[in-house]
Amino acid sequence: MRVMSVLTELSGRVGLAFADEGLDPALGEVVVSQRPELAQFQSNGALAAAKSTGRSPRDVAEAVATRLAADPGFAKVEVAGPGFINLTLSDESLAAYAESSARMDTLGVETATQPETVVVDYAGPNVAKAMHVGHLRATIIGDSLQRIFRLLGHNVIRDPHFGDWGFQMGLVIAAIAEEQPDLPYFDPEYLGPYPDESPVTLDDLQRIYPEANSRSEQDPEFAARVRDTTVDLQRGRPGYLALWKHMKQVSEESQRRDFADLGVEFDLWYGESDVADRLEPMVQRLRESGVAEESRGAIIVRVDLPDDKRDLPPLILESSVGAFLYSTTDLATLEMRARDLGAGLILYVVDARQADHFELLFRAAAKSGLIPPTTRTEHVKFGTMNGKDGKPFRTREGGVVSLGDLIDLVQDAARRRLEEAEIAKDYPDDEREQIARQVGIAALKFGDLVNNRVSDYTFDLDRFSSLEGKTGPYLQYGAVRIRSIQRKAQERGLSPGPMLAPIVDGERDLMLVLLRLPEAIERAAELRAPNHVAEYAYQVASAWNRFYDSCHILDEEDPSRQASWLALAEWTLRTLTLLLDLLGIEIPERM
Ligand code: ARG
Repeated sequence: MRVMSVLTELSGRVGLAFADEGLDPALGEVVVSQRPELAQFQSNGALAAAKSTGRSPRDVAEAVATRLAADPGFAKVEVAGPGFINLTLSDESLAAYAESSARMDTLGVETATQPETVVVDYAGPNVAKAMHVGHLRATIIGDSLQRIFRLLGHNVIRDPHFGDWGFQMGLVIAAIAEEQPDLPYFDPEYLGPYPDESPVTLDDLQRIYPEANSRSEQDPEFAARVRDTTVDLQRGRPGYLALWKHMKQVSEESQRRDFADLGVEFDLWYGESDVADRLEPMVQRLRESGVAEESRGAIIVRVDLPDDKRDLPPLILESSVGAFLYSTTDLATLEMRARDLGAGLILYVVDARQADHFELLFRAAAKSGLIPPTTRTEHVKFGTMNGKDGKPFRTREGGVVSLGDLIDLVQDAARRRLEEAEIAKDYPDDEREQIARQVGIAALKFGDLVNNRVSDYTFDLDRFSSLEGKTGPYLQYGAVRIRSIQRKAQERGLSPGPMLAPIVDGERDLMLVLLRLPEAIERAAELRAPNHVAEYAYQVASAWNRFYDSCHILDEEDPSRQASWLALAEWTLRTLTLLLDLLGIEIPERM
């Protein structure tokens, strides 16, 4: 038997009852009851059925309910209000569902019937600039989404799309040229070989970039030089390319460390520059086909449509001085992903403030036929992580917070929390540090992911790191405690057994909550919204706590009840582990 989610299975059963009434079985869709005090599930199909049949909804509901009442799997079938069908499972049948879901490796989550290649574009740090909290959000949300899509059986390709081919590269090269004009990279006569050692460190870059950036805003002569430098780099001037490679390497080393700290990996380690060779031919082709045109010295693609409610600027492919831009590399990358990687869906997990950029990009791609009409592109937007002052999170000195510093910050907070709660007190130092790190990262990730991604949220380390409430550490701690119960049970020679029909509310509710896993994940995938996973994980942990408060597993005298509860514990732990993994959160071995 192909096991499926309870809701799918129940919908099938209720659908049959509708069919027996001569109605569309699709009307039988069952959802979790909105009034849990009245019933566990409900079907609202009778209301829709009435429209097409002329029968009253109440009448249809009664007829379907009568058929369902004959099914021993239901303890209660009632018609409520204008024609809702309320359903409550018998405890035996609930336990049977529990048993079959818990037995499955996938815990009832169904994989996609038509898996496709999904490119997830996230993180997006820039070479020569420190990763900041905007990149952090992209990284955390993107990583969770790619995990969700992977679980559903899609062929996921993770691509960070490094910013390494635009104006900021010209900025830094021009600034270094001024500071150290004698370096061989700037001598047009010199043809190499260039030094192996980078002339600049990461610290140098982090000083040079902001300085050069503000200077270019005030000094038009410097800005012009930066533009020329960018063009020369993009057209392959050997000295600039050699220097660029150093900077890329220096930045990437630190980015790799940051990603490793966050437990984030990529399949491709591509940046804008990986499509460098495609830019000129692409622009050429688009001009020939008439999609691109010249306007005031620049080459553009007009993307505005007659019924646009606001003015949309064109997408610029080449600036008047001949530089390729962010949009040019993005367009060529989009084509590469669709054509070479065969992407059916591309998710761009990027700050909401780039909404216009993506609107132009997607329109230009469609207009130019660079991607097949079957490739779907989506901007998965997110809001800002703010400080307590309501402004984008910064250091006390007002600077951009580097990811490394932020990780230190959360780890410190986690360490304090653990100390307060006297957790891991007697463990070896390195293990305690490792736990503090895992807890800190969990605080950071969960604090982000639990929010609807489009809203801004306040970075509140005290709240995020708390071991109580809707936090990452609370969930980790819950999982670790289940593990410790399992260990104790094992020491006493106890093992899980078949799940029995529940006898107390805590037990019944926990089963019902655990059975909702497939829908929680499906919803998160559909809406590209990991907060549904985060929210559901919290419900699981809370239901577990209510269960455990009333059912003392280790003291239970009836051995088969005890074995059933141990099975419930194992199911809960596997569910929590799966959910936390989807959020990119590790569970410490012990706490
Ligand atoms: N590097 C960009 C930034 O820092 C983000 C890149 C997002 N991805 C993309 N395909 N444009 O803003």
